[in-house]
Amino acid sequence: MSTGSSISYKEKIDLSRLPQHIAIIMDGNGRWAKAQGKHRIFGHKNGVKAVREVSEGCAEIGVKHLTLYAFSTENWNRPKTEVNALMELLFLTIGREIKTLQKNNIRLNAIGHIEDLPAANKKALLEVMKATSKNTRMTLTLALSYGSREELTEAAIKLAVDYKAGKISLKEINEQSISNHLYTKDIPDPELMIRTSGEHRISNFLLWQAAYTELYFTEKFWPEFDRQELYKAILDYQQRERRFGKTSEQINQQITNTN
Ligand code: IPE
Ligand code: IPE
Ligand code: MG
Repeated sequence: MSTGSSISYKEKIDLSRLPQHIAIIMDGNGRWAKAQGKHRIFGHKNGVKAVREVSEGCAEIGVKHLTLYAFSTENWNRPKTEVNALMELLFLTIGREIKTLQKNNIRLNAIGHIEDLPAANKKALLEVMKATSKNTRMTLTLALSYGSREELTEAAIKLAVDYKAGKISLKEINEQSISNHLYTKDIPDPELMIRTSGEHRISNFLLWQAAYTELYFTEKFWPEFDRQELYKAILDYQQRERRFGKTSEQINQQITNTN
């Protein structure tokens, strides 16, 4: 892709209609590395660059929330050597990226079973979250040891406990209270979800939150995903009509009425 066309992607974005929240399933590190005869870990290391690119790219144009699927509950089942290498990489990256986060006024957040992470990772993560907690430009949420079914199950248990204790009535178990018991309670639902590497599945990511999310799939492996690819995905999103169950005519009517 020439630089000329990449600049025009960004210029074509309508900044008044940006998704507030973009969620990304960062997939394909292993295949990217294998294609070059390298070890899977090499792919994960190069994936970090893409994280930086996309975080800065989002903050730069005014996206308020970026959520990155970094490690799923199911990823614990990978070979121990890979899990250990991923955890070490996470530890090093958290320590190294704090400067970039502060420079860009980005707040770091995490969702998932953080307590399952190695103690050093958890400590480093909580420290950086605390240090960046006042940053306002964008919230970068890392989904770590995250599983959507587990998140929903935990919400169901909490609501059941409150109901049994007489703290809430049956009526108070509704869409709002379920949302309020998810790890994402302080984050709006994503308008756009991107998955790299040509796989067309959600893999247990934000199942509830993505009820009306626009999905964007690209063949690019995660280490190849850069700002230009991000802007291309946003442009694709802006060309879609989000109907939320209504007809196209109703949506156009709404637009006319609000103008
Ligand atoms: C995504 O890349 C990173 C994690 C899931 C941690 P993969 O490691 O899944 O790479 P592929 O899908 O095997 O190529
Ligand atoms: C999804 O990728 C999880 C993350 C990106 C962290 P996987 O590579 O684990 O997903 P599957 O196994 O192909 O569905
Ligand atoms: Mg994968």
